[in-house]
Amino acid sequence: MNILALVGSPRLEGNTDFLVDQALAEAAELGAETEKIILSQYDVKPCLGHDECSDLDSCVQRDDAAWILDKFCKADGVILATPVYYYNVSAQLKVFMDRNYFLYTHKRKSQARVVGMIVVAEVEGLEDTAQALKRFIKESFDVEKDSILEVHGYASRLGDARSNGPLLRQARELGRQMVESLKVNG
Ligand SMILES: Cc1cc2nc3c(=O)[nH]c(=O)nc-3n(C[C@H](O)[C@H](O)[C@H](O)COP(=O)(O)O)c2cc1C
Repeated sequence: MNILALVGSPRLEGNTDFLVDQALAEAAELGAETEKIILSQYDVKPCLGHDECSDLDSCVQRDDAAWILDKFCKADGVILATPVYYYNVSAQLKVFMDRNYFLYTHKRKSQARVVGMIVVAEVEGLEDTAQALKRFIKESFDVEKDSILEVHGYASRLGDARSNGPLLRQARELGRQMVESLKVNG
């Protein structure tokens, strides 16, 4: 089984990145193959909105989104992780979500059987952000509600998540539950 994490924070080794590492480390210890893609490290251009995707064999944008979306579709489990930026996902994750529109118009969804969400805010906006992510998940995966696992919590400065024991444990638990869910669902 493999679990792919897409990290929306551009802050390397920041709170989101750290929590993702915890979830993936736990999953790896339990036998999963894991991969982390930090979206800001790649060329993922915004959707151009021409709305002609369904007439095309591939997206007109030539960048890293194609191979990232391919991995997104093929992974057994996917983690979507983001800091809260103005009550929503980060721009990096939103651009990726929009690029999934090409697949949406071709009726292609991720085959992942379990989805993890990791959302980190300084003070507020967790619920709005989680809602936005859940709507994306509903359109982009064929998973039941109980296969969508969430970790959200508060952290602000670099290193805050590292010293937040309960949040750290929740992230590890997310990794464990994703592996358990994949074992149960074949
Ligand atoms: C552009 C920007 C917008 C932000 N907007 C919010 C917000 O709406 N609500 C909030 O609680 N924190 C907000 N924050 C704080 C981050 O969510 C918080 O610092 C988080 O821990 C950053 O995670 P990271 O270390 O993974 O980048 C914002 C930070 C930035 C840089």
